[in-house]
Amino acid sequence: MKTALMTLITTGLLVTSSSILAVDINHGKSLQQKNCMKCHDDGMYTREDRRVTTPDALRNQVQRCEVNLNLKWFPEDVDAVVEYLNTTFYKFK
Ligand code: HEC
Repeated sequence: MKTALMTLITTGLLVTSSSILAVDINHGKSLQQKNCMKCHDDGMYTREDRRVTTPDALRNQVQRCEVNLNLKWFPEDVDAVVEYLNTTFYKFK
């Protein structure tokens, strides 16, 4: 009984925290389409000699472009765009 209760509680916690942490890819997509297409289009992310080759580099590059533009995004916005770009183009594990 006690164990079953613990399991329930733990599962509940996990579900709750993962939905808080869930990154909104659609949010990332619309941010990217609105702000990031002035200098380059999607082709930048798939060009043959692309510079970004690791997840960390992707995050750094998104931040670099975002800071240059002075967009003042929240970390969640950066996460959403990184997630969108990774899911759609880079496909890092
Ligand atoms: C002011 C022009 C400009 C805007 C606007 C811009 N970028 Fe960039 N971005 C560049 C340039 C220039 C490069 C190429 C840098 C290089 O080759 O060293 C680049 C490269 C990148 C790359 C790396 C591509 C690769 O080689 O793998 C990513 C990712 C990227 N930008 C994301 C973004 C995001 C996200 C935004 C919107 C927040 C954005 N960029 C907006 C100028 C811009």
